[in-house]
Amino acid sequence: MGVRFKGWGIAVPDRIVTNEELSRTLDTTDEWITERTGIRERRIGGSAMTLGTLAGQRAMDDAGVKAEDIDFLVLATTTPDRICPATAPMIANELGLNCPAMDVNAACSGFMYAVRTAYGLLETGNKRILVIGAEHLSRWVDWTDRNMAVLLADGAGATVLEFDPDGTDLLSFCLGADGSAADLLTCEHGGYFQMNGREVFRRAVRVVVDSAEKAMASAGITSADLGIVIPHQANIRIIQAATQRLGIEMDRAVVVLDRYGNTSSASIPLAFDDARNNGRIKVGEYALLTGFGAGMTWASAIVRWS
Ligand code: ACO
Repeated sequence: MGVRFKGWGIAVPDRIVTNEELSRTLDTTDEWITERTGIRERRIGGSAMTLGTLAGQRAMDDAGVKAEDIDFLVLATTTPDRICPATAPMIANELGLNCPAMDVNAACSGFMYAVRTAYGLLETGNKRILVIGAEHLSRWVDWTDRNMAVLLADGAGATVLEFDPDGTDLLSFCLGADGSAADLLTCEHGGYFQMNGREVFRRAVRVVVDSAEKAMASAGITSADLGIVIPHQANIRIIQAATQRLGIEMDRAVVVLDRYGNTSSASIPLAFDDARNNGRIKVGEYALLTGFGAGMTWASAIVRWS
């Protein structure tokens, strides 16, 4: 059996916050943020529900499907609008879906965890699944903490996955989690995101390289076969270090963090959308989609676009 990506959509808030704007209230500079992270500006606003709904509607329009065609909604989010209920049923209601809907929280690996979940649901009888990654990270940022405020942002991206008995776009996965590293990146109830940035950086490179190698081996390809890499957008230096270790030239990696910052589970679909708009998604080519995040969690997949 197989699954096909049928359509994609994104949504970002209108409000752009530049490094220069942040440096007016924080002890930081545009130069530091750009050099250490690659981020130049980010979008702030909306909510997981409003951004997720818009991205979901756009993905459905792009796929040419209607509400009644969707059998299941899986929403990846680290920042649901409320602890209870989940945000997915509210998005389903906004979109007029009449199907099961649930949240998945795997932090910045969330979108790939949601795709993996959808793949399993398609294997067991569902025909079409809406997968959304939507984040309202800015709500959980202490805007006086320069360590986190320069990194996190808001946004959403979505795709429609469809069962196909005759072939597949998704060739392999490698997912993992290591709860012994849970304290490296946290947001307590009523609190704000906090992170041991250096240690997250070190481990991120390791798990991206390891999971990407395993996913490529299981798809029967090497890094030389990859047309494009769509990585989680946390820090340009993490993307550079991981691609270098994998033997992949940096110009094969999609980078949108300069414009969007780290949008956690929205970042991979935001990067896909940018690559598509720039003509970088080519039928028949292999792609590596790879994410890592709090948990720690990680997830790599090999896709061959149809
Ligand atoms: N502006 C100016 N200086 C700063 C800033 C800032 N915004 N933030 C930190 N600094 C200072 C630090 O205080 C430190 O000063 P010190 O040497 O006097 O102590 C100095 O800059 C260097 O700090 P480091 O933490 O060593 O800087 P580093 O080069 O590691 O960059 C960063 C920090 C950007 C956080 C990096 O470690 C990183 O990207 N880590 C990974 C983050 C990530 O990938 N998170 C992913 C998941 S997010 C999620 O799951 C929701």
